[in-house]
Amino acid sequence: MDEFKVVILAAGEGTRMKSSLPKVLHKAAGKSLLGWVAEVAKAVSQKPVVVYGSGAETIPDTFGNAFTYARQEKRLGTGHAVMMAKEEIKDSVYTVVLAGDMPLIREETVRALCETIKTAGPGCGCALLTASPAVTPAFGRVVRDGAGKVCGIVEDKDAAPEEKEIKELNLSIYCFKTSALLEAIQTLRPENAQHEYYLTDCVKILYERGYTVESLSLPDMQEAIGVNTRAQLAQAEAALRRRINEALLLSGVSMIDPAATYIDAGVTVGPDTLLYPGVILQGDTKIGSGCTLYQGSRLVDTCIADGTTVENSVLIGAVVGRQTKIGPYTYLRPETVIGDRCRVGDFVEMKNAKIGNDTKVSHLTYVGDAVLGSEVNLGCGVVFANFDGQEKYISTVGDKAFIGCNTNLISPVRVGKGAYIAAGTTITKDIPPDALVIGRVKEVVKPGWAKGRYRANK
Ligand code: UD1
Ligand code: CA
Repeated sequence: MDEFKVVILAAGEGTRMKSSLPKVLHKAAGKSLLGWVAEVAKAVSQKPVVVYGSGAETIPDTFGNAFTYARQEKRLGTGHAVMMAKEEIKDSVYTVVLAGDMPLIREETVRALCETIKTAGPGCGCALLTASPAVTPAFGRVVRDGAGKVCGIVEDKDAAPEEKEIKELNLSIYCFKTSALLEAIQTLRPENAQHEYYLTDCVKILYERGYTVESLSLPDMQEAIGVNTRAQLAQAEAALRRRINEALLLSGVSMIDPAATYIDAGVTVGPDTLLYPGVILQGDTKIGSGCTLYQGSRLVDTCIADGTTVENSVLIGAVVGRQTKIGPYTYLRPETVIGDRCRVGDFVEMKNAKIGNDTKVSHLTYVGDAVLGSEVNLGCGVVFANFDGQEKYISTVGDKAFIGCNTNLISPVRVGKGAYIAAGTTITKDIPPDALVIGRVKEVVKPGWAKGRYRANK
């Protein structure tokens, strides 16, 4: 028997998002809203239950078998949603209910709520999270009896004027005694302004049946921001980014302007790395220590080793070694692996390229499907012609080879170690080590030929 089972309510329609994507699958700081909540849920219970609705059929596939799933065919309210998970929760002592659209909720907070109900003993039917902010949004109000005990929750839409004056709000995060919840939920009736089965009505039912209801008050309501609109999504995103950046700053990462530095959940950055404004780190990205990422660099699923600098560049699915300089204006595409102490400069694009240590690819070059050794120098405007319209081919360049400016390598070719290719050459066959290759069209010089043209223009 599990002590705690978490149920995540994620079947709401999310109409106010005006989106074809289910609300809880919208992302904030690189992770879906449900993903944030799911992470907290997993820390608190084995196999949390996700209640999802129609239009969100991708949820089970997306979140996989670390969770169990209950489908809510019709959205008849939060109480009805919990009812859908009856089979999954019935063997637990306590049921924790979280909302799938509250990405800011912290594990510590949920654990504190769990402690509250345990400490209160077996007579306690529910512990709920509340807050009393200065400005009151349209949340459910927590009603207390003459002795100050929680005796009910009244929804904003059902509240009488004097109830609307209540400052204490229900944040929609609960820990129930499972047996008491299952009893109470059977008796819910949709007799209210929204004709829904309100989970919140369970509080009054439990109270009337003699259970106590405890509350845990949050000093800062921000954790309970629910995302219902795109504006709230942006607000949640900003708060999550702040959280990510604060943790990185504490761990020794420098940021010139944290508010303008965009780092997704799960990205790692080593100490003494300096991030300039406009840096975007996404997906499974790992940055070493002592790196400098200058303005306007977007790195996705990319690994950078220690001491490397990147400026104004886009790196997707790349691996870069130590002490290497990338950019400005470099574009590295997937399967690119660059060694240590390399130099990759402006308007260089690479795809599926392996670049050895100390190699320079300084400007205006395309390296696609190629393996370069170490200490290679590619001049300006080198192109690996890797595609013949049907197939892609791989070329290799040996250590210390020198490839002059405007060389075309018609793949597949092999350039031997130390070979020297003169500028303007087109390589179509393999080059032995240490050879010199010049493949230029002979130039023709006609003295005085152009003179007449200049005169005509005058
Ligand atoms: C709910 C609470 C309210 C609280 C507020 C805090 C109820 C009746 N009211 O109101 O007291 O102050 O949260 O944000 O619970 N959902 C389903 N199936 C449904 C309906 C909702 O899965 O049929 C899910 C939603 O996806 C959402 C959560 O339950 O994650 C809350 O539902 P929502 O409709 O947003 O409730 P509120 O009206 O905000
Ligand atoms: Ca809500």
